[in-house]
Amino acid sequence: MTGSVPAIRTICCIGAGYVGGPTMAVIADRCPGIQVTVVDLNAERIAAWNDPDLSRLPVYEPGLDAVVGRCRGRNLFFSTEVEAAIAAADMVFLSVNTPTKTKGLGAGQASDLRWVEASARSVAAHARGHTIVVEKSTLPVRTAATVQAILQAAQGDATATHDQATFSVLSNPEFLAEGTAIADLEQPDRVLIGGDDPQAIEALASVYAHWVPQERILRTNLWSSELSKLTANAFLAQRISSINSIAAFCESTGAEVGEVARAIGTDSRIGPKFLQAGPGFGGSCFQKDILNLVYLCGHYGLHEVAAYWQSVVDLNTWQQHRIARLVVNNLFGTVTGKRLAVLGFAFKADTNDTREAPAIRICRDLLEEGAELAIHDPKVAPEQISRDLGSAPSASGSGLTGEGSWQVAASVEEAVRGADAALILTEWQVFRELPWADLAAQMRQPAWVFDARAVVDPEVVRSAGLRLWRVGDGRIG
Ligand code: UDX
Ligand code: ADP
Repeated sequence: MTGSVPAIRTICCIGAGYVGGPTMAVIADRCPGIQVTVVDLNAERIAAWNDPDLSRLPVYEPGLDAVVGRCRGRNLFFSTEVEAAIAAADMVFLSVNTPTKTKGLGAGQASDLRWVEASARSVAAHARGHTIVVEKSTLPVRTAATVQAILQAAQGDATATHDQATFSVLSNPEFLAEGTAIADLEQPDRVLIGGDDPQAIEALASVYAHWVPQERILRTNLWSSELSKLTANAFLAQRISSINSIAAFCESTGAEVGEVARAIGTDSRIGPKFLQAGPGFGGSCFQKDILNLVYLCGHYGLHEVAAYWQSVVDLNTWQQHRIARLVVNNLFGTVTGKRLAVLGFAFKADTNDTREAPAIRICRDLLEEGAELAIHDPKVAPEQISRDLGSAPSASGSGLTGEGSWQVAASVEEAVRGADAALILTEWQVFRELPWADLAAQMRQPAWVFDARAVVDPEVVRSAGLRLWRVGDGRIG
């Protein structure tokens, strides 16, 4: 494509998930002159995005309801009519899921690109005129080549029903974090656009320029852009594994990881962010992206590099098993038939997302040990917990059978009633201010608090007569 920068009047986003939904809502909000249509094959999800009750959107994000409320029906639409939306679009975002492959070549490491390929084929089949295709999903490096190859084949396909469809492919990775997605989208540290068609790059830059300062819009080649996303997530995850490794060391030596984090975080070369010890990282990106990096490095024969990044994931997994193990050990070596209150199931606060949540592995370990779990999370649906744990809830409990069972508790009070321990696995604000003296009275003594997020005040918990373990806190115990 040569000539001037194409004006963008219509955008189609394929994939109405945690990335596509909030991102398009903010674009529609900031660019009233652009019509934005988000499409998905999942009719139930689209119906939820169109629900008149904004508290029932399929994605929970602080501030999202207000943004959707302002734009929906004005220049923001949610639809299952994928083909029509592609045909009408000047620009198509691919924002479909790219989970780690569970079987076949690269199982457990490589990303499953079947949804990316299928959506690229839909674009190839239905686009009209010149269409800019933007990769928004996290994709392994050089995926743009696949998308380009599919689109080019359509361009050269004389049997195609449409005339003169042409394409430019861009990579525009999303750096939003769940729970702060709206703020991250409205004030991004940077927007990254990778590509080799300068007009297409400028067309996308002009969309963001409605609200993002020019100096924050970075332009790179396609591959640098794709690799930057994997690298940013690998570096962030590495910091968490680093601080969690030190947390374990603190517990053994009498140091406190929060104090250590504060001390090292004041070094301007290190900085204070992402040094919160906890039950390990979850979410849809970190583990998937690192495993992707490991797979690609292995593919290129860089085995030492692959092993280096693999260790970041291994430490994370170890931290989760370690927490389950120390719960069992502190409860006299057995949790069979014991009620354990699990406070928080989401992978972090302020989201209803449970993908790769640390709570999943920890709960599974405890169920394996025969525990009766009472799980309370302010936003996660019971059906989601059921899918994640691979079993149905049980109202009656499993007693001393050793089977393990779980049920949902509607409140913290209900969860801790008769429990031997409360485990805090997500840092929801409400868990920072719990009335431990009242809760302790409901628990079976001697009772424990296992604070995997370091959110409780140790003094308050201990003066309520409860025993306490707090991640990375070697001063207690
Ligand atoms: C991450 C990246 O931050 C974002 O840029 C990218 O686009 C997607 O992946 P997200 O997974 O939504 O975002 O949330 P994030 O805030 O990064 O947290 C990821 C995990 O790390 C959570 O489980 C969180 O609890 C954990 N975490 C984070 C810590 O344990 N300690 C910290 O200091 C920070
Ligand atoms: P993310 O966190 O990356 O946004 P999600 O799984 O939340 O991932 O959302 C991805 C969405 O993409 C899902 O709702 C899924 O139904 C949708 N999707 C996947 N493939 C296609 C496709 N070919 N056409 C339309 N929608 C698709």
